[in-house]
Amino acid sequence: MDDLALNLPERIPYHLAIIMDGNGRWAKQHGKPRHFGHQAGTENLRRILRACSEFGIKILTIYAFSTENWRRPPAEVSFLMRILETVIDRELDDLHANGVQLRHIGHLEGLQDHIQRKIRQAVERTRNNDRLILNVAFNYGGRDEIVEAVRRIIRDGVSVEQVDETLMEYYLSTAGQPHPDLVVRTSGEVRVSNFLVWQAAYAEYYITPVFWPDFDRVELHKALHAFAARERRFGMVEPPEV
Ligand code: FPP
Repeated sequence: MDDLALNLPERIPYHLAIIMDGNGRWAKQHGKPRHFGHQAGTENLRRILRACSEFGIKILTIYAFSTENWRRPPAEVSFLMRILETVIDRELDDLHANGVQLRHIGHLEGLQDHIQRKIRQAVERTRNNDRLILNVAFNYGGRDEIVEAVRRIIRDGVSVEQVDETLMEYYLSTAGQPHPDLVVRTSGEVRVSNFLVWQAAYAEYYITPVFWPDFDRVELHKALHAFAARERRFGMVEPPEV
């Protein structure tokens, strides 16, 4: 155990969500094409996953491909699709051996058949693992998720009186999971970008200028300390002083 692991704050987020931003700018900074940044970002994901396990985080949700990312040049879209496939092909054994339960959030429809199959198989294979849940938001949009939930509620013939927040939660792709406590966004952008718009309503946000490929274990550790220093009131007032 090194200094970082020994110097963890008492309150660790149970559920951490990350907007992994800045791959393209990182590549530019290094005089390389954008796909080089996505590759570096993928390698970093492996490191951060390991650090999350080590630091005691139980759920990690990553924003890997949004419903809006289809608007990128076709070559970049194909590259990101291939990354998902490669991650599953190369990392699944290791993830499984390390107790990671892989889940997908977002639309499977719209992805190529063989990618859909690969995701389904990976989810099925790891479904009983319980060391860490990794939600991969891929072809995901927060508004879309809510619209989809409403459609399913109507399809199920639920009556108006039965619709409340608890029921809505049941119809979201994260059903059964606690909400994210902390959302990290790398690369300095201060936006939600349609990520977990329902679930992160009361999350703490941590924005860092560091580009995703450089957001390492030390940076995660800093984010955890920043989170521990926040006072979470969930809309209530501070407890009165005695
Ligand atoms: C944002 O950087 C990053 C993405 C849209 C893709 C994120 C993907 C990875 C980190 C790889 C891991 C992927 C999977 C599928 C597990 P950007 O391209 O928007 O960077 P920029 O804002 O600097 O251009």
